[in-house]
Amino acid sequence: MPLIAAATGKNPARRPVWFMRQAGRSLPEYRAIRANRGMLESCFDAELVCEITMQPVRRHDTDAAILFSDIVVPLRAAGVDLDIVAGTGPVIAEPVRTAADVAALPRLATDEVGAVTSAIGLILGELPDTKSLIGFAGAPFTLASYLIEGGPSRTYERTKTMMRADPELWNQLMGKLADLTITFLRAQLDAGVDAVQLFDSWAGALSEADYLTYVAPHSARVLAEVADYGVPRIHFGVGTGELLSAMTNVGADVIGVDWRVPLDVAAARVGPGVAIQGNLDPTVLMAGDAVLERELRRIIAEGERAVASGARGHILNLGHGVMPGTDADAITRAVELIHTL
Ligand code: CP3
Repeated sequence: MPLIAAATGKNPARRPVWFMRQAGRSLPEYRAIRANRGMLESCFDAELVCEITMQPVRRHDTDAAILFSDIVVPLRAAGVDLDIVAGTGPVIAEPVRTAADVAALPRLATDEVGAVTSAIGLILGELPDTKSLIGFAGAPFTLASYLIEGGPSRTYERTKTMMRADPELWNQLMGKLADLTITFLRAQLDAGVDAVQLFDSWAGALSEADYLTYVAPHSARVLAEVADYGVPRIHFGVGTGELLSAMTNVGADVIGVDWRVPLDVAAARVGPGVAIQGNLDPTVLMAGDAVLERELRRIIAEGERAVASGARGHILNLGHGVMPGTDADAITRAVELIHTL
């Protein structure tokens, strides 16, 4: 598998590529299948999860499938009242703000994500041997931000306030979310995923000092508790240029980089022995073939420089998810270019 080879310092048979949010609204076949089904309902239907996970792999020939799910799926499975609202994201019915709220947060039992583990079995039955299946979970900080704010936020003011004003309560909440994330990732690993990605999408809202104090110990515990499987652990967040080293040191084998930091610069920040993943700006997929080829050539060259200076390997990806308005054919062309350039 080219993706596993690149993640572990071996020579991949071809340059591996997959795209965050490769399954989703950019694909007409996804829009058709989701036309009369809710997002969460779809995430708990194993056959639908398998079909949606496979759609972008079939169409674009990416080197990995990412399980179609969402970071709030394990919270919903455990019994938290929430919804995923189109165009907004996760919305929590009763935000978690007091000690009583934290105490009442349910734990996750493995059988509550049985639909997800069944889906993994179905996907592994369809996926060619050369392609990897990536499982994932939200990291404790990003999950906490949704639970505390009640939905998406620009400022994370309630989250940062709890973190600093009541660190004991904060650590209780983060500890429970780490437990939930460990259970969810281990269930996926037991079902056979080839790699896992921990999404700390919004960690970039924090300074490095705050990340190290309030977040790193919990994310480190999550990554340590899945280390025994020996599969690559990818760690990703948006706007995390200043956190790349800290986010690697919590136990990542592959560090995700957004488009703000060139890959060779990122590799120098994290030091040798770590693979890098990224980092095409998703909007480049909307700018036409000439721009796409120019930007991909630059990223490939920066990735090669990163590897020459000690990075374990380079997995091509976007710096964040595919935007819903992206033309699916542009994504296919990007994959072709990445495999042939
Ligand atoms: O292809 C893939 O990458 C796998 C699927 C995937 C989804 N969510 C499907 C989804 C993954 C890996 C996620 C993770 C996720 N969910 C993250 C971390 C990744 C990131 O983007 O930083 C976060 C922050 C969420 C929370 C969330 N869920 C948001 C912000 C949204 C978008 C809201 C919107 O409508 O724009 C969702 C909903 C969601 N998750 C969609 C998809 C395909 C869109 C819902 C739909 O199709 O109706």
